[in-house]
Amino acid sequence: MKSFINISDISRKDLRKIVNDAKLQKKKRSTLKKSEVDLDSPLSGRILIMIFEKPSTRTRISFELAMKQLGGQLLVLDPKQSHYGSGNENTHDTAKILSQYGDIVMMRTHEHEHFLEFSKYLEIPIINGLTNLSHPCQVMSDIMTFEELKGPIVNKKIAWLGDGNNIVYSLIEASVQFNFQLAIACPKKFRPNKNIIEWAKIKNRKILITQDPAEAAKSADCVMTDKWISMSDQINKIKKKKILKDYQVNKKIMKLAKTDAIFMHCLPASRGEEVTNDVMDGEQSVVWLEALNRIHIQKSIIKWCLSY
Ligand code: CP
Ligand code: NVA
Repeated sequence: MKSFINISDISRKDLRKIVNDAKLQKKKRSTLKKSEVDLDSPLSGRILIMIFEKPSTRTRISFELAMKQLGGQLLVLDPKQSHYGSGNENTHDTAKILSQYGDIVMMRTHEHEHFLEFSKYLEIPIINGLTNLSHPCQVMSDIMTFEELKGPIVNKKIAWLGDGNNIVYSLIEASVQFNFQLAIACPKKFRPNKNIIEWAKIKNRKILITQDPAEAAKSADCVMTDKWISMSDQINKIKKKKILKDYQVNKKIMKLAKTDAIFMHCLPASRGEEVTNDVMDGEQSVVWLEALNRIHIQKSIIKWCLSY
């Protein structure tokens, strides 16, 4: 059984296969309407169950469209209206039930540990739709988007400015698996997860971690950021924003990157905080394509999990 939990769990060969398949399948359906099923309807008769313990716009809608285009069906378990969310039924039992109703689960939860605990009891594959630790589907979409626009990502320089959060965790894993340079500028207090930095070191990937945003952005092919406050952050928000204020992506930062560099943001954004309006809406911004490609990469992730 193949689950999609973290990018570091999956072989380089399979990750490459997923990205290439997504690019190919996207091209193949370029003349079809948004909810028309792919000509081969690969997941006809299959069911994806989605569980969201926190809000989502892109992940929810893009998984729904992904499943529609694959010819499959979708069920949503709303924690607010189920025994699962009320704590009225143990995780083990819910996982057992869902294993009978569906073929695959996609789950967004707060604690990564909870995600792992739930997946232990599930008898069908599960996809990580974001935890406090990581957001692998997003970063896979970012790789696909980068390559669509700029060609192979190998040896390219990606700069991250801001919070060392769940997106950075997946980005660090991706820099090892897809072999690109990663430069992270963040304050000491908000450095990325130590374990994943250690893992990258063991894999011989040198990642630049600096407190200087200019050093990270210099000659980058892509500049990325995310909200300074994540959904699971239980922290003094005002203090955190103050510490991060020098890590904003603005025109001055984009000028340090290559002239043809792109700007990425997983969205939702807090315009005026981690990114200025002129960068978000500027010519270098590819944030809308990143969101669109979530559909295509997730179709390939679902198919990979189900061995199609
Ligand atoms: N980028 C992303 O995962 O967005 P949502 O929180 O809207 O799903
Ligand atoms: N880091 C953000 C990503 C949202 C898609 C969060 O966890 O809230």
